Amino acid sequence: MDLQFTRHRRLRTTSSMRSIVRETHLHAEDFIYPIFVIEGEKKRNEVKSMPGVEQISLDYLDAEMQEVSDLGIKSVIVFGVPDEKDEVGSQAYHDQGIVQRAITQIKENFPDLVVIADTCLCQFTDHGHCGIVKEGKVLNDPTLDLLARTAVSQAKAGADIIAPSNMMDGFVAAIRHGLDEAGFEDVPVMSYGIKYSSAFYGPFRDAAHSTPQFGDRKTYQMDPANRMEALREAESDLMEGADFLIVKPALSYLDIIRDVKNNFNVPIVAYNVSGEYAMIKAAAQNGWVDEKAIVMEMMISMKRAGVDMILTYHAKDAARWLKEQH
Ligand code: PBG
Repeated sequence: MDLQFTRHRRLRTTSSMRSIVRETHLHAEDFIYPIFVIEGEKKRNEVKSMPGVEQISLDYLDAEMQEVSDLGIKSVIVFGVPDEKDEVGSQAYHDQGIVQRAITQIKENFPDLVVIADTCLCQFTDHGHCGIVKEGKVLNDPTLDLLARTAVSQAKAGADIIAPSNMMDGFVAAIRHGLDEAGFEDVPVMSYGIKYSSAFYGPFRDAAHSTPQFGDRKTYQMDPANRMEALREAESDLMEGADFLIVKPALSYLDIIRDVKNNFNVPIVAYNVSGEYAMIKAAAQNGWVDEKAIVMEMMISMKRAGVDMILTYHAKDAARWLKEQH
């Protein structure tokens, strides 16, 4: 036989051989674990559309954080589900708001965990939009001041990173300015700057009670059809002072992750969102996919696409599976 070809299979012969040529690796430190905190006592409400995800009251928070840190996860992001909502989302920037109290409690009892605060208004407004609404419009500039106030109150509570997710123009500039003025120049901003208007957020809105009461978020979140716009968003956020960039959702947007990675030199985070999680859980519960294998393949795909960190509801499971491998 006189065929000319390359023997790729030489590097796949054994498990050890495959492991020495492996290009991408996962670590428990890669994961950011999302938590939903609610008012009240002794409450653990499972989110129907997200099996395995619960809203918890603060008396269960320590046990949850112990579990997370025992698994080697280093960071958590806090989402608050307040009892009271109003037009201007005032619980978002209340110094004793549910998010602020949760942050303080975690930092007191688990000082080594990196606590990230989601900075948005939609869980706190009665209309469910991420900003001030007037005559059916979400106003950009008047919202900026409230976001800055929210970020400062979260930093005061002890947040290590501020993660604004509401997609108003100038939110990074306003928050950076607010933090600096209040003496928090060392608190970084992890901007959800590349956030698409996505149907994959459906289950989260059940978890966080943040469904918009009218209209949708298309005037502030990005059009899924756009790619160059992601680069413009990334560029302006970095000019305004962002220290990290989040791309959200993750799995249908791996091309965007790679574009951002190739064009900018800051840590990038994939937000593996609620709908992505719910689909896997539903298929796994039906026995249609192998949950562990499929989750780990998805995690690797996000890292291969170029992210440094993965914000995911699978974090605890993935960290446990990594541990079992070693
Ligand atoms: C709030 C926010 C949303 C998500 C995170 N922060 C919902 C939205 O923008 O509608 C979605 C997260 C997920 O689906 O897991 N702005």
